[in-house]
Amino acid sequence: MSIEIAPPTNEMIARAAQILRAGGLVAMPTETVYGLAANAADPAAVAKLYETKGRPHFNPLIAHVANLEMAETLGRFSRPARRIARAFWPGPLTLVVDIDETCPVCDLARAGLDSLAIRVPAHPTAQALQQAFAGPLVAPSANPSGRISPTLASHVAADFETGIELILDGGPCRAGIESTIIDARSDVPVLLRPGGLAPEKVELHWPGLSYPDDTPEAPRAPGQLLRHYAPSAKLRLNVQTPENNEAYLGFGPGGGTLNLSPDADLSEAAANLFSMLRTLDTTHSKIAVAPIPKHGLGEAINDRLTRAAQNS
Ligand code: TXA
Ligand code: MG
Repeated sequence: MSIEIAPPTNEMIARAAQILRAGGLVAMPTETVYGLAANAADPAAVAKLYETKGRPHFNPLIAHVANLEMAETLGRFSRPARRIARAFWPGPLTLVVDIDETCPVCDLARAGLDSLAIRVPAHPTAQALQQAFAGPLVAPSANPSGRISPTLASHVAADFETGIELILDGGPCRAGIESTIIDARSDVPVLLRPGGLAPEKVELHWPGLSYPDDTPEAPRAPGQLLRHYAPSAKLRLNVQTPENNEAYLGFGPGGGTLNLSPDADLSEAAANLFSMLRTLDTTHSKIAVAPIPKHGLGEAINDRLTRAAQNS
């Protein structure tokens, strides 16, 4: 059985909101990656989401809301947390805050934690769906747990046979890499996951960003514990000269089987990363990847590549 894919017309947005209210799952585009949305306040819908993704229950979900005002009904924002929310929402930033006593996001979605990760997506379709649904949605990346995140509707359709009632096709995701997660519960911001918002930009509005040692055994974001972004192919990183039997994922001038960005533009590389990994994974069993600079979005790109190479 294949899942229905539809363009995000007003009619389809209304239908998607109806499916969510009835406890179903809808895949929606965001500016980072496609998310698999469910009603955050409905434990049965959230349980279905965990089951469909094959996601361990200890791994909490991000609540998605329409704006900061709504976010403040879920969690408690310090002054600097509010400042970076104002600066970057809607956009690829997730903030971890303490939950408000009246927070409607169910226990299961939070994996029982008394903190909550919150994000306001910028994509017009995600915004329209948030407005139509008028409540918090949980939306993990719309991939089976541990696999590469989807940046096209067709990626979602290829990864799931059942469980999802509708995929809203909003075209390719602009950022192409998941949101940057900042723990905003103390005096200094803590980077839990590098992502689509460069850490340097956070620093401009809330200096002192701390980069905790994210050992695989003791990650700050529970989800980082898992083997992640895993292609089937073996991955070799920081390769200047690939072997004959390897596909080469290039960066900058000099080509490659595919090239993340011939102009060495890190935003373009982030937008292409998951899609190109998926393509090479279907055609090759070994992939060599060119060195990617570590500044700006390069931090998030190197993070995902390192995790994707874990099985290699
Ligand atoms: O860009 C994104 O953030 C995408 C789009 C769809 O919005 N979503 C996404 O969700 O990447 P997911 O579930 O694939 O990743 C969420 C990460 C996980 O690593 C999880 O452990 C972490 O956020 N997380 C969630 N709640 C947390 C909390 N209270 N404290 C620390 N980490 C948390
Ligand atoms: Mg994910």
